Amino acid sequence: MIELSKPEEVTVAEEKKLWGGRFKESTDELVEKFTESVSYDKRLAPFDIAGSIAHVKMLEKQGILKKEEAEKIIEGLNEILDEIESGSFEWKTELEDVHMNIEKRLTERIGSVGGKLHTGRSRNDQIATDVRLYVRHEIEEILELLKELRKAFVKQAEENLDVVMPGYTHLQIAQPVLYSHHMLAYYQMFKRDAERFQDALKRVNISPLGSAALAGTSYPLDREFTAKLLGFSGVTKNSMDAVSDRDFVAETIFNCAMVMMHLSRLSEELVLWSTEEFGFIDLPDAFCTGSSIMPQKKNPDVSELTRGKTGRVYGDLMAILTILKGLPLTYNRDLQEDKEPLFDAIDTVKLALKVNAKIVSGMKPKRERMREQAKKGFSLATDVADYLARKGVPFREAHRIVGELVAYCLDKGNGLEDLTLEEFKQFSDKFEEDVLSLMSVEGSINSRNIIGGTSREQVESEIDRIKEEEGFE
Ligand code: ARG
Repeated sequence: MIELSKPEEVTVAEEKKLWGGRFKESTDELVEKFTESVSYDKRLAPFDIAGSIAHVKMLEKQGILKKEEAEKIIEGLNEILDEIESGSFEWKTELEDVHMNIEKRLTERIGSVGGKLHTGRSRNDQIATDVRLYVRHEIEEILELLKELRKAFVKQAEENLDVVMPGYTHLQIAQPVLYSHHMLAYYQMFKRDAERFQDALKRVNISPLGSAALAGTSYPLDREFTAKLLGFSGVTKNSMDAVSDRDFVAETIFNCAMVMMHLSRLSEELVLWSTEEFGFIDLPDAFCTGSSIMPQKKNPDVSELTRGKTGRVYGDLMAILTILKGLPLTYNRDLQEDKEPLFDAIDTVKLALKVNAKIVSGMKPKRERMREQAKKGFSLATDVADYLARKGVPFREAHRIVGELVAYCLDKGNGLEDLTLEEFKQFSDKFEEDVLSLMSVEGSINSRNIIGGTSREQVESEIDRIKEEEGFE
């Protein structure tokens, strides 16, 4: 016997999903929990609404929507944005994602005309558009933060031009360098990072809107028009690629991972330098923490955590690459998993950049200790070998002679600077009076007067060049 539907079943049918037309059963609660993304993609709301408004303006221009309809939808969307920004918007897990939460609210507010918003569009090109707008916005912010950090390094370099320190290879004292030169090495890393983000923008800032579900659409949409309204520099050229491409997400996370790697290297140095054993640097109190048991401790936790958080961001990169590797064209729901790693990498890198810019601005080199160490470990040995080579001794032989000199000093418990001319001459008759004046850290540093070298002249001119290029005060 066929039962007629009861009134409450009608209610159930009305509460069906926006995509629920072909479904007889409602979604299992566990599946809702498993498939929802609104708990995290709601942060895309401002971009989602901007994309929708551009889409509606275009639909009106193309005569697909009437003027009054478009106006009503745009007004509704703006009101929803206000609700979201003021915190009064009620996000619903059962509405799955940011798109459907907003669309549902739109029809609640303005009635069935709200249903026309999605004309000629799919969530597949919609989410691709939202994520691109979001990434573009975040890259602009990261570029600003990278610039602040670079400025801090240049300031350290400029204010401490007379500070000398040992330069290391293999973490063994190698040759004396200017502390400023060391600071500007970090400047270079973060400059390259900025260039990398800038370059990524070329691929990020392209509009996939109008690709629809995967094949394009039969509506006469003006894709160039929406792209222009949204500030994109062009439109994607293949709808199937456009809805499934997340290369720009992977690329952005990689760029974040690279920044973190550089910050982590810096952190490692700051952790070492702030130990009793190195004693090279005083970190600002506000960026260190104490111990709950040992009253004397000042721990470089921020640097340690920067090093640690680098691991998270590498994890984010592994996640996105792994998510993408097995996907057939075109959109697959796996792609929803792009967001959490992306958001995590971006949030982490932004916070790490902010806090490290403050550390770099506030740290103080301990110049006496650095100078003392700059002379240790026979750091002037290369200068002595170069001296002999300049006097015509083949460099390999000069290297051997100075090696023997070092062994001799080690036996005597001396440094090279303690040797007399007579002692030098025992190892080579090419040594003359002037070798003794070579034995100064400044002399050694300033002799490396070559582009990219550590001499004061080179470092000063590099600071000038950077300030000019970056427009630093
Ligand atoms: N939440 C989805 C995502 O992030 C939006 C696109 C859903 N598209 C679909 N056909 N189910 O990828």
